[in-house]
Amino acid sequence: MSINNELTPHEVVAELDRYVIGQKEAKKSVAIALRNRWRRLNAPADMREEIVPNNIIMIGPTGVGKTEIARRLAKLSGAPFIKVEATKFTEVGYVGRDVDSMIRDLCDIAITIVQDEHTVSVQDRARELADERVLDILIPPAATSSGIRSSITPAGAPTSPVASQATERDTASQDTSDEDSLRQRTREKFKRMLENGDLDTREVEIEVASDQSSMLQVFGPMGMEEMGVNLQDLFGNMGGKQRKKRRVPVQEAREILTAEEAQKLIDMDKVTKLALERVQQSGIVFIDEIDKVAARSGGGKSGPDVSREGVQRDLLPIVEGSSVMTKYGMVKTDHILFIASGAFHVAKPSDLIPELQGRFPIRVELDSLTEDDFFQILTVPKNALLKQYISLMASEGVTVAFEDEAVREVASMAAAVNEEVENIGARRLHTILTTLLEDLLFDVPDAMREDSFVVDRKMVTEKLAGVVQNRDLSQYIL
Ligand SMILES: Nc1ncnc2c1ncn2[C@@H]1O[C@H](COP(=O)(O)OP(=O)(O)OP(=O)(O)O)[C@@H](O)[C@H]1O
Ligand SMILES: [Mg+2]
Repeated sequence: MSINNELTPHEVVAELDRYVIGQKEAKKSVAIALRNRWRRLNAPADMREEIVPNNIIMIGPTGVGKTEIARRLAKLSGAPFIKVEATKFTEVGYVGRDVDSMIRDLCDIAITIVQDEHTVSVQDRARELADERVLDILIPPAATSSGIRSSITPAGAPTSPVASQATERDTASQDTSDEDSLRQRTREKFKRMLENGDLDTREVEIEVASDQSSMLQVFGPMGMEEMGVNLQDLFGNMGGKQRKKRRVPVQEAREILTAEEAQKLIDMDKVTKLALERVQQSGIVFIDEIDKVAARSGGGKSGPDVSREGVQRDLLPIVEGSSVMTKYGMVKTDHILFIASGAFHVAKPSDLIPELQGRFPIRVELDSLTEDDFFQILTVPKNALLKQYISLMASEGVTVAFEDEAVREVASMAAAVNEEVENIGARRLHTILTTLLEDLLFDVPDAMREDSFVVDRKMVTEKLAGVVQNRDLSQYIL
């Protein structure tokens, strides 16, 4: 099990704090849920089966960090994690993806994670094998006739000393061993050059599996998926034997061949088994926009509502715990953690069908963001918007600085527009900043030649006050 799973609840919150401002309650809930996975796995076996995850619904207005929390959680949880949009699914029988596909996708993700881990562990060996293969190409084994040899030897490469040695003359055993030791020495020499990167730019011809799968992906239809049949696998294996020759620099050849050798060294059966185990024991599914499949109260049962309710009904068994057929085998969903989220502007959690409400016992509300939150969102997170603009400009050689006063003003304007026009949360900051910085972004480097620029309060008021105060304008611009 991955190290990251052992983060304590406090550590999880601290980690989330680096990216998401405020929303203490939501962070706390997901931190507890995450830690509970680990606690369960360390509980006595008979108890382990009984402990079911407490699924969570996050409720909060748009743009306050629901999806952001999920995204960050995914990165730090080390567990197989998938984020899906509830709106993407349709009831079985309708055109669209059925809800089971989220579990299948989760398995794919887990396979990739476990495969990557295994790849790392065989990396050194794979590289050695790849280098051997590159050497075989550079200095072909003795058995090959000189005719073939010259066709393989890359253009411009010095004829290997071995080649000149191998003459038509009768090869007595003495000669052969001489030749062998010479070949060995040459190989050693080439090997050192290879490791030093001296041969990186020389071209060699290698055989690679031709990239057919990408083409086949296009017609992987939905219907087949339900049967757990994967077209790509089906055809991938048929076409998999096809290999084509490519000329590439040695450096690239080493990469390609290392990947190929690693692939061969990995025991895929073991990977699959581990991955499925991980999905079942610690998988997390984040269902975004769950409110969009809740039927509005009072609304007649027509058209889309029927399908929406169908989606909820299809969700029930998965959330409750059932077996889903995947191409890797059956996956039990009993212990997968589900976190749902939605703005619930129009529909309320109570508009979800009752059975589904019951499957999400923990409700957390996210707060609307305040002016002060905006100030922090602009400046504090590791990926804060201002930091993003600063590095964008830095790549042009321009140092941009934002005065505190200016940032306060931006935060206050964001809060004002959110209040007056429509509350779109932190997304408002994006629109305000693009308006504020448009000229700068346009003028660098052509019209703006200074290598530093300061955004002060005056600039903010000049550029934005007019727009913010004019309700009609801000409706369109901000
Ligand atoms: N509390 C916050 N801290 C830092 N950044 C935030 C916060 N809330 C929102 N953001 C930023 O605002 C943007 C939108 O946030 P997010 O996608 O999480 O919204 P959401 O709550 O999922 O809204 P919706 O209901 O519309 O899906 C993101 O770029 C995110 O970085
Ligand atoms: Mg969202």
